[in-house]
Amino acid sequence: MVVADPRDDESTSVHVGGFEGDRLVVSATFYPSTSPVNPGRAAYQLRYMATDVDVQARGYGARVLAFAEEELRALGAEQVWANGRDSALGFYLAVGWSIVEGSQHLSLETQLPHTVIFKELVQGAATATS
Ligand SMILES: CC(C)(COP(=O)(O)OP(=O)(O)OC[C@H]1O[C@@H](n2cnc3c(N)ncnc32)[C@H](O)[C@@H]1OP(=O)(O)O)[C@@H](O)C(=O)NCCC(=O)NCCS
Repeated sequence: MVVADPRDDESTSVHVGGFEGDRLVVSATFYPSTSPVNPGRAAYQLRYMATDVDVQARGYGARVLAFAEEELRALGAEQVWANGRDSALGFYLAVGWSIVEGSQHLSLETQLPHTVIFKELVQGAATATS
């Protein structure tokens, strides 16, 4: 599925992809965004995280996020956050993200259950306030 976001071509948007040969098989996009978890922290929102169905469970998603976190840290990010699809929460927990308890909601776009999730990128960072 192809998705497009009005922020995609902005210089501050961060797109990360993983390839098998010439084929893009996993991608994630990060936009600078006020975090609903800790609004004072320099944060990026993750959107459009996906691995192609036929190559899931090979560690590609985890590798893309690990690479992205290093890049975002270098840009000064202290936290990443997302509205995580509930069916994927196990993935995010496996790669060190946390859930904001009580934040479950239906996505306006997909009507699927989502939960606010986040990961601190800086050692000793404050924990969630909500
Ligand atoms: C969620 C998704 C991105 C994971 O990508 P992936 O490349 O298959 O994930 P990885 O192989 O890197 O998995 C990393 C770890 O997460 C675990 N994991 C992956 N998907 C999981 C899931 N849905 N539930 C629980 N655990 C999961 C893996 O078992 C692995 O754990 P391990 O390190 O203990 O072995 C992928 O399944 C996907 O694209 N799903 C459909 C779209 C989607 O839901 N995107 C997220 C929207 S917020």
